[in-house]
Amino acid sequence: WNLSPRKILEDGPVIPVLVIEELERAVDLARALVRGGIRVLEITLRSDVALEAIQRIRCEVPEALVGAGTVTSAADLEAVVAAGGSFAISPGLSTSLLRAASQGEIPLIPGIATASELMQGLELGYDTFKFFPAEASGGISMLRALAGPFPGVRFCPTGGITGENYLDYLALETVTCVGGSWIVPGQFLADRDWEGITLLVRQTLAAASTT
Ligand code: 3PG
Repeated sequence: WNLSPRKILEDGPVIPVLVIEELERAVDLARALVRGGIRVLEITLRSDVALEAIQRIRCEVPEALVGAGTVTSAADLEAVVAAGGSFAISPGLSTSLLRAASQGEIPLIPGIATASELMQGLELGYDTFKFFPAEASGGISMLRALAGPFPGVRFCPTGGITGENYLDYLALETVTCVGGSWIVPGQFLADRDWEGITLLVRQTLAAASTT
């Protein structure tokens, strides 16, 4: 892996946003996703076991590239590096987080929802962003509007992406991949239906490859 934010997005076209509440399910879930064809996994820091889940997946599922989501501070970023995370994704951006990441060891994909935030990111050397919360921030028409003044920027829209709209997002020139929790339905996880998850991933990727 030659890791840059752009490369991580290019491995998509779908990054699952995973909230792991039960540690013992993390490895099985990661294996199910990898079997389906998804290698880049975002574990959000929104649960107590997130960092440990990253550690375990890193050790036990070497085919996966596991990183952290909901990284909102330089301290979060440090914790992710210590856990062995390969990248970090943030819902937003702050000067201190972007500075810490550009001096740090792993790539950061910061979040933006406006032209001004995007310009702040560009100023600090970033050209690849999460667009968050995608649906609530204007969705596809907002991304089309941003593509005018910022044609070289690439996005991973996340927040409100579903099986019904992800192909429309992927059809946009500036969208390299989409992120979301929809790819692992809660019931499948509760039922430990790993084969079901693998099948869903295969179907999702197959539909994306024909567009
Ligand atoms: C995130 O953390 O990126 C979002 O909460 C995921 O949004 P979704 O649940 O609407 O996919």
